[in-house]
Amino acid sequence: EKGTYPHFMLKEIDEQPFVMRRIIKEYQTEDNKLKLDADVRQAMKACDRIYIIAAGTSYHAGLVGKEFIEKLANIPVEVHIASEFSYNMPLLSEKPLFIFISQSGETADSRAVLVRIKELGHSALTITNVPGSTLSREADYTLNLYAGPEIAVASTKAYTAQIAVLAILAVDTAQAKELELDFDPMQELAIVANAMEVLTDQKEAIEELVRENLGTTRNAFFIGRSTDYHVCQEGSLKLKEISYIQAEGFAGGELKHGTIALIEEGTPVIAIATQENVNLSIRGNVQEVAARGANTMVFSMKGLEQDTDAFVIPHVHELLTPLASVVPMQLLAYYAALHRDCDVDKPRNLAKSVTVE
Ligand code: M6R
Repeated sequence: EKGTYPHFMLKEIDEQPFVMRRIIKEYQTEDNKLKLDADVRQAMKACDRIYIIAAGTSYHAGLVGKEFIEKLANIPVEVHIASEFSYNMPLLSEKPLFIFISQSGETADSRAVLVRIKELGHSALTITNVPGSTLSREADYTLNLYAGPEIAVASTKAYTAQIAVLAILAVDTAQAKELELDFDPMQELAIVANAMEVLTDQKEAIEELVRENLGTTRNAFFIGRSTDYHVCQEGSLKLKEISYIQAEGFAGGELKHGTIALIEEGTPVIAIATQENVNLSIRGNVQEVAARGANTMVFSMKGLEQDTDAFVIPHVHELLTPLASVVPMQLLAYYAALHRDCDVDKPRNLAKSVTVE
């Protein structure tokens, strides 16, 4: 139930710190080791390539997960939109492992791929919020998200739970492969949980940004590079699906290859800047669009911030920045929808689980 909250979406945004802490608890043994099914560990260790299959927000979590698995566990990863995979199945490696990411576990597009790859005799792991769901039952292995029921059509806490579980999975695999690591996922996720609390306490600041910058606009752009680009894609999906503002996430470096032509006087451009190695280049992009009249809002991370930034998120480990930077994006979408009198929890034309192909 919503309790004192006006909408499920706001409640679910606020639940994210608790979900992080629950995931830490569920995936940790009493002596602080990672607790994952031995079968999952074995499957991860044995494969030579991972194919992540998902839709919508879960696909965006997969893009972040690819970075964890490649950087920490040293396994090549491809991330595919479920509905596209069926038409253009890539050449598969010798020992593929499929990971299905799905909040509901019922997405028909993902299930179609699962059925197909099972026919081919491949193994599948489902990461879902609903153990016992179709994708969970039909896969060989399941990892639970422990996010609690997500009711709002716009996915929020499932996205951050998916990313947290993918980080744990990547580290567990790295440990199984005896790779060297200086990244303790549980310690870093605890820091994230605290950061999320700070962020969810800043609703007024975000609402103010919405009032000033997104009040009547028809469109909005999100720009970022590297990991931040993935969060731009998620931020823009959130904004478009509940506020109906036409929104797009772009890789900063692609602006000059076409997109910058869209910038007009007053176009809102939201930039995410949490990655040190691309900070200068994304700042350059912000200047380029500002020079063409864009109304820029930079969301940076503590330590990389500049005086003119619209919002500064607390410092978290550079691999886990999406878990923090997505929170103000979720709140931007929420308040933009609220200010436009949109039905926040049940946006037009959308269903919570999409059970048709
Ligand atoms: O249940 P799933 O995670 O498989 O759902 C996938 C998408 O339908 C879902 O993420 C959708 O994009 C959300 N409405 C986004 O907020």
